[in-house]
Amino acid sequence: MKKRVLGFLLTAVMAMGLFAGCGPADTGAPAEDGTATEAADTGDAAPATTSSGGKRVAVAMPTQSSERWINDGSNMKEKLEALGYEVDLQYAEDDVQAQVSQIENMIAAGADCLVIAAVDSSALVNVEAQAKDAGIPIIAYDRLLMDTDAVSYYATFDNKGVGTAIGKYIEENKDLKNTSETYTIEFFMGSPDDNNAVMLYNGLMEVLQPYLDNGTLVCKSGRTSFDDTCILRWSQETAQQNCENYLTGFYADEDLDICATAFDGFAYGCKAALEGAGYKVGENWPLITGQDAELMATKNIIAGSQTMSIYKDTRLLADKCVTMVQAVLEGAEPEINDTEQYDNGKLVVPSYLCTPVAVDKDNYKEIIVDGGYYTEEQLAE
Ligand code: BGC
Repeated sequence: MKKRVLGFLLTAVMAMGLFAGCGPADTGAPAEDGTATEAADTGDAAPATTSSGGKRVAVAMPTQSSERWINDGSNMKEKLEALGYEVDLQYAEDDVQAQVSQIENMIAAGADCLVIAAVDSSALVNVEAQAKDAGIPIIAYDRLLMDTDAVSYYATFDNKGVGTAIGKYIEENKDLKNTSETYTIEFFMGSPDDNNAVMLYNGLMEVLQPYLDNGTLVCKSGRTSFDDTCILRWSQETAQQNCENYLTGFYADEDLDICATAFDGFAYGCKAALEGAGYKVGENWPLITGQDAELMATKNIIAGSQTMSIYKDTRLLADKCVTMVQAVLEGAEPEINDTEQYDNGKLVVPSYLCTPVAVDKDNYKEIIVDGGYYTEEQLAE
């Protein structure tokens, strides 16, 4: 473990802005009413145009406080409209009751299909039952809908795979298999009401637990369980607060070497806490992980204040979800690649898992820029 060389001065720092203000290349900004406008057309794997008969697809998204959901919403809207569907896109701003009301209104307004990325995956059971009674099929978008038999399909990324990818990145970056050093680590995990968060944690710990057990990794706070490290509603502010508390309580005499975080928003919170504690990029800055490869996170990766993120191509996810909408509305066959992992307590939901990719300063150009997700210009702004 490296000893702290710099003085440890804890100062209050401003939380970083939540949203960088730009989406993937050519993606339209959200309109003021919370609906999204144009989005990039990737052209890859886009579903073929069919006659949708003017059917109405309602898309319930969790929040606009994080860039990825804005991109998800605008991608879905554009792709569905291109197929002739009428789209009702709503954001609940992480308010469970607001999302319940929005879905009730969507049902009352005559939705033919509901696509839901839940704020709280278990809180929609009643409204999902209402939809089922009204004959409206439901597709779970990115977050599994729990405890309901009203869901037909689930489009997501391999959520356990996100965790193993973060774990393997840490393992390789610090050469944990071979090193004789020890590294300090703290964990910042996702929301307990989001099934993805638990799966990510399980994948992460599958890789890292052996190194905690043999002492190569040392978590000085002792907080390694999911219950001890989860952060309700994926709050950046809570991640910052937790990091500040860890630094003050456990790292006065030695550096924190690794912030294992499950979300770019958490990485921003840790960055603010570390800056406040006097850590310096290029000197004693820790390895910081994240998820979503948001624009700000990618800029931070280039600048060195975040080490890696998990790139999730939301254009691809939207394509897969649209094929599921078509399946339930037009009787088409959606592509499914998992019929085992996603048991929601009522049924194992047929799922399509997109592949998450770890990005850092060495491969972001190839993956993110060449892949058309962000332009060099966006990253340079
Ligand atoms: C998603 C992540 C996202 C997180 C916070 C999760 O359900 O899978 O991609 O970072 O929510 O918004």
